[in-house]
Amino acid sequence: MKTSTLLSILGGISSTIASKVHEKDGEDQKPITPSPPKHEPISAIPPVGLGLWNSKGKDATKATLSAFHNDYTHLDGAAAYGNEDYVGLALSDKKAPPRSSYWLTSKLWNSMHQPKNVPIAFNKTLSEYNTTYLDLYLMHWPVAFLPDRGGRSIIDQDTSITDTWAAMEVLASAYKASNGAYGARHIGISNFSPRQIDQIMKMCTICPYAHEFETHPYLQQQEFVNWHHRAGVKVIAYSPLANINPTYKDVMPDLKPILEDQLWEAIAKKKNCTVAQAILGWGVARDTVVIPKSVHEKRIQENLASLNVKFSEEELKEINKQDKKIRFNNPSKSWGVELFEGLDDGTNRFLTADGEL
Ligand SMILES: NC(=O)c1ccc[n+]([C@@H]2O[C@H](COP(=O)([O-])OP(=O)(O)OC[C@H]3O[C@@H](n4cnc5c(N)ncnc54)[C@H](OP(=O)(O)O)[C@@H]3O)[C@@H](O)[C@H]2O)c1
Ligand SMILES: *[C@@H]1O[C@H](CO)[C@@H](O)[C@H](O)[C@H]1NC(C)=O
Ligand SMILES: *[C@@H]1O[C@H](CO)[C@@H](O)[C@H](O)[C@H]1NC(C)=O
Ligand SMILES: *[C@@H]1O[C@H](CO)[C@@H](O)[C@H](O)[C@H]1NC(C)=O
Repeated sequence: MKTSTLLSILGGISSTIASKVHEKDGEDQKPITPSPPKHEPISAIPPVGLGLWNSKGKDATKATLSAFHNDYTHLDGAAAYGNEDYVGLALSDKKAPPRSSYWLTSKLWNSMHQPKNVPIAFNKTLSEYNTTYLDLYLMHWPVAFLPDRGGRSIIDQDTSITDTWAAMEVLASAYKASNGAYGARHIGISNFSPRQIDQIMKMCTICPYAHEFETHPYLQQQEFVNWHHRAGVKVIAYSPLANINPTYKDVMPDLKPILEDQLWEAIAKKKNCTVAQAILGWGVARDTVVIPKSVHEKRIQENLASLNVKFSEEELKEINKQDKKIRFNNPSKSWGVELFEGLDDGTNRFLTADGEL
């Protein structure tokens, strides 16, 4: 990774403040009208955000407004969630805070990986959100589909993740060149394996700000999380409530919902908080950014308050021993690609049936 480049990106955008000098004094002297304060975007990704997958139609508008009302400053969206227009309605609502006061993430879908399509997909997302920039634009999966095949997922063998990354770098450069008026403030990745991360790290001039992947008490991947922290890449923990997402109900049908897990019930009792707060608080305590999804205002409020739950080193060690290494989100088979190579419960063509290398 090129440290100097990364620092200059993280250093933010310095706005030039043009100051005019009034030469005349006397009776016709007029005070300079103060220019409106130029809001600097919030400096780093906030530790808790609102997830937006499966929030449909008006529920997405309502959830976003509830999040604002309860002081959220971070939204995790994606073109693939099919609700960017409904989230956009909330962003343009008169009750919405100024754009610079919250962090907005979106993701490039697989069918738009061809370099010429990247700015088209990005502009569409911007226009649905009715905004001019994103705080973070992620490559949703390290998988390219052929464009314009409707709902069909046919792998595009000719578009590599590095081709797509280079096109995303152009959006990040545009942000800098325009002083934040247009573009992606940061770019990042999602659902990458170590080998795929390495491919990006070897070629990037603007390197990933964050990696969003599945991690929760049942799929902790602590070593992988630590690797990111050492490399200066933030970890965004998706599905932070493990198997609560109804989409995952068939993956491990006999496993109780994590909210009924005795370990977590005991931790919540000890900390006098809800089970969801304990689980999310653990995510924050291990320096991952958690993005719980809910369409219920009470839960939305409850989830942000997980910031106040603290964990001791001993507790963190104990929880680490309870890792189940179960992955709930893996479309590898349906897409016909290898995913999460080398990671816990990933597809791994190098493993034999008994798990030995
Ligand atoms: N990059 C990727 O590929 C990727 C993949 C998956 C997810 N994500 C992101 O991560 C976000 C979160 O993950 P997720 O949606 O899979 O699952 P999640 O946030 O772990 O769980 C969501 C489920 O938990 C329920 N819930 C939320 N808070 C609760 C509480 N306090 N008490 C009880 N139930 C609660 C929600 O129900 P209600 O809504 O009915 O309240 C919903 O059914 C997504 O929305 C998305 O933004 C990204
Ligand atoms: C888009 O945002 C601008 C302000 O930034 C606002 O004036 C306009 O009404 C919004 N458009 C829609 C369709 O909400
Ligand atoms: C995307 O929008 C920007 C800003 O409006 C514009 O300069 C650029 O040409 C657009 N790109 C495409 C491919 O539409
Ligand atoms: C537990 O939390 C509730 C609600 O936040 C509060 O009313 C109560 O006093 C707390 N109890 C203890 C023992 O801290």
